[in-house]
Amino acid sequence: MIATIISERKKHNPVLLNEVTSIISPQYGGTFIDCTFGQGGYTRKILDFEKTNVIALDRDEDSIKIANNIKKGFKNRFIFENKKFSELHKLSLNNKDIKAIIFDLGFSLDQIKNQDKGLSFSSKGELNMRLGLNSFSAKDAINKLEQKQLEDILKFFGEEKEYKRISYNIVHERKKKEIDTSGLVRIIESSKRKKNYRVHCATKTFQALRIFVNKEISELINGLVNATKILKKNGKIVVVSFHSLEDKIVKYFFKNLSENKNSSRYVPKINDKINLLKLINKKPVIPSEAEIKKNPSSRSAKLRSAIKQYDTAKIETDIYEKFENLLEIENYSKKL
Ligand SMILES: C[S@@+](CC[C@H](N)C(=O)[O-])C[C@H]1O[C@@H](n2cnc3c(N)ncnc32)[C@H](O)[C@@H]1O
Repeated sequence: MIATIISERKKHNPVLLNEVTSIISPQYGGTFIDCTFGQGGYTRKILDFEKTNVIALDRDEDSIKIANNIKKGFKNRFIFENKKFSELHKLSLNNKDIKAIIFDLGFSLDQIKNQDKGLSFSSKGELNMRLGLNSFSAKDAINKLEQKQLEDILKFFGEEKEYKRISYNIVHERKKKEIDTSGLVRIIESSKRKKNYRVHCATKTFQALRIFVNKEISELINGLVNATKILKKNGKIVVVSFHSLEDKIVKYFFKNLSENKNSSRYVPKINDKINLLKLINKKPVIPSEAEIKKNPSSRSAKLRSAIKQYDTAKIETDIYEKFENLLEIENYSKKL
């Protein structure tokens, strides 16, 4: 996620690019899956090494044009699919040995600058926040959900402390007229009692709505599970996340599959549970001072990675139970 600050820079800077490259070692060749192609920053870097192949995915159809340009130079080594990464297991891989699957979560600078997507507080017009391949928008959520449902979204997806006042005011205001992006910002501004001048007051609400609209919780969980399934022994999973909720899910998933114990009451005791994954870095890798200075929106990035230790598509994880409450909130969209 390129934070919610729009910088003056023109181009999306791939975050932690050198750190990701040093984990996946493209200099030795192989096939890689870039689950979040975006502007193609990671893909291009991998393709710069001979004997590499990249299969890239992105849910945003605006990525197709960028992918078509890359295809001109790397026809036989690059494939792009306009798909969500939760559908990784549907790729026809023909039993290919994938060296690494990479996730660079959130959205790119180009997406936040695109007024039509409505990801930024300064966007004009209808609420949207759809990254692509969605079934509803932020407009539907804000104008149709019940007050309690809005409260849950703001509280759990945005960690917004003033979730009650904001949700109350949304429901009150929408009776008068449909709420658009600037209307929502005004409601948030007037609802907030505590002012924090370092962060825009709508940051948390916008984050919460974006997560809800794009079903980012189930996308991430299914993406991690399916990535682990399709990898063979020694295949790597690399995830760059940008907010604490994402990092919590990635951290739990890797821990859950790399520790030989039943960490949860939800899973029946199994004595011979294997450590399917091994952590590559015990602690998350974060951007250097120099990277943050050059690209301030990288400051919240955290990179976690793991390597698969056995050739099996069978996975024992309680990740769905662990994050059941968040998945239930995502399901409020069923009525939209
Ligand atoms: C931070 S950008 C990636 C930037 C990219 N690494 C680069 O260097 O240009 C995240 C990208 O992931 C895409 N994305 C987010 N969620 C996705 C999902 N569930 N499935 C596929 N793509 C997704 C967004 O559309 C966006 O283009």
